[in-house]
Amino acid sequence: MSHHLVRLFLLLSSVAIDASSALHSDPFTAGVGLNIDCGGTSNFTSEFGRPWVADGYYSGGAVGLVAEPHHFRLPQERTLRLFPPVSAGKKNCYSVPLPPGRYYLRTFTVYDNYDSKLRTPSFDVSFEGTLVFTWRSPWPEAAARSGAYADFIAAVPDGDADLCFCSIATDPPVIASVEVAAIHPLAYGAASTGVDLILVNYGRLTAGSSLFGPGFTNDSDAFSRVWQPDAYFRRRDVPVKALSTGGHQILGANQAPNYFPVKLYETAVTTVNSADALVYLLPPVDTHLDYMVWFHFAEIDSGVTMAGQRVFDVLIGGENATRIDIYKEVGGFIAFKWHYIVENLTSTPLVVKLVPVVGKPIICGLENYARCALGSCHVMAMQALKESLQIPDRMGWHGDPCAPSTWDSWEGVTCHHSDNGQNLVVTQLDLSSNQLTGSIPDSLGSSNLKVILLNNNQLDGQVPEKLYSIGVHGGIIEVK
Ligand SMILES: *[C@@H]1O[C@H](CO)[C@@H](O)[C@H](O)[C@H]1NC(C)=O
Ligand SMILES: *[C@@H]1O[C@H](CO)[C@@H](O)[C@H](O)[C@H]1NC(C)=O
Ligand SMILES: *[C@@H]1O[C@H](CO)[C@@H](O)[C@H](O)[C@H]1NC(C)=O
Ligand SMILES: *[C@@H]1O[C@H](CO)[C@@H](O)[C@H](O)[C@H]1NC(C)=O
Repeated sequence: MSHHLVRLFLLLSSVAIDASSALHSDPFTAGVGLNIDCGGTSNFTSEFGRPWVADGYYSGGAVGLVAEPHHFRLPQERTLRLFPPVSAGKKNCYSVPLPPGRYYLRTFTVYDNYDSKLRTPSFDVSFEGTLVFTWRSPWPEAAARSGAYADFIAAVPDGDADLCFCSIATDPPVIASVEVAAIHPLAYGAASTGVDLILVNYGRLTAGSSLFGPGFTNDSDAFSRVWQPDAYFRRRDVPVKALSTGGHQILGANQAPNYFPVKLYETAVTTVNSADALVYLLPPVDTHLDYMVWFHFAEIDSGVTMAGQRVFDVLIGGENATRIDIYKEVGGFIAFKWHYIVENLTSTPLVVKLVPVVGKPIICGLENYARCALGSCHVMAMQALKESLQIPDRMGWHGDPCAPSTWDSWEGVTCHHSDNGQNLVVTQLDLSSNQLTGSIPDSLGSSNLKVILLNNNQLDGQVPEKLYSIGVHGGIIEVK
């Protein structure tokens, strides 16, 4: 028992030192970032001046190479790290030490038949214990062959970013690169919603331009965001025209806290026929989540010289969300952004419509983020319990305790939807008669547990006082 306490203490004190040194410089201002070439053996600088480091920060797995390296233009896309099922628990993670702050994280996931089995794996990716990406076999053809980038924005509260890969089938999770860049702590509405929401990218589009962003072009973006062309998400039967500023300067972009790049506002798309609405179908979404949709506009047509000449309504999921008159808001050649939270979505995909009122609608860019509440409270409490009680490997306590039950699940752990219905939380714990030793950590008391059965083990130490509140609230607790 005592050596656990000592280890825990050392862990806490080293975190405290990291945190105090980080307080002196905000990671965004300091330009903290790291690009990991998973499976790669050497450091290199890309053709766009981006530094990449050889594979590291993983705690298990093996190295692989895509089947057709010539098919991949960027070196970091060719080498892989895979996590065979024998890897357990923390071994399925990348744990990157980072000063506490908010970060943009991008992964590149690719299969390309590296194992000659013609079978894409099924796995989940979690960040700090919250599910962010789900990869299910069979992958879409394009992703299986060419791979897919996926990104999200999240806070790293504790000085360690844990990106974990949990297999739900026999084929090992596979990852080709992990990119991390610090962002402004108040970016994307955090001043009103707090920093705890994870924003998972479901589309970050530039209208009238081709793909751009650090790592892919020489264009800069303060957060390393990559912007993809809108055409794929736009309804094809509406004829559109691409516009560009033609060198005219755009003001009001690249400002705190979001630092949207100037280039985003230098191009736009508008309709050809004045009666047409511009329609975007954003990728399939989970109706249980809330979405944050950002709209980017700039009046870049020098023919529009006063308010009232271009007016359109924004319909989101069929509801009229706002009326936009860019010139009235900011004038010409100035970035104008607006965002909206979509709650209680009833159908997928999310449909965004720009309906003309006067003139033709125009748009420069669109972003859609799923807002995931940081579900890590239960995960951290359970990790602490796992350490304290020396839970044996046979009980399968790996990854997220509330992951789908088809996983090699956490024996003795039962999850239910939380009161707000948004995430799964641990509600029951039956660890009776498991020859467990150690003590019960305090953190367990702040969880959603309603039933705890720990009898018939060799536990020592005190039962944390907080745990008794479970009994007080009508729950069940059996320890001795
Ligand atoms: C890559 O660079 C990092 C520092 O950024 C260094 O610690 C590491 O040793 C280098 N690795 C190789 C393989 O050169
Ligand atoms: C990107 O910019 C760097 C530095 O200015 C330059 O050396 C490089 O050639 C550019 N790459 C491309 C592909 O334009
Ligand atoms: C849509 O909503 C805006 C304000 O939110 C309003 O000004 C406009 O008239 C509405 N459009 C329609 C067609 O009702
Ligand atoms: C969404 O549903 C919740 C719970 O049913 C409700 O409290 C909330 O007001 C709804 N939000 C909107 C925008 O309708």
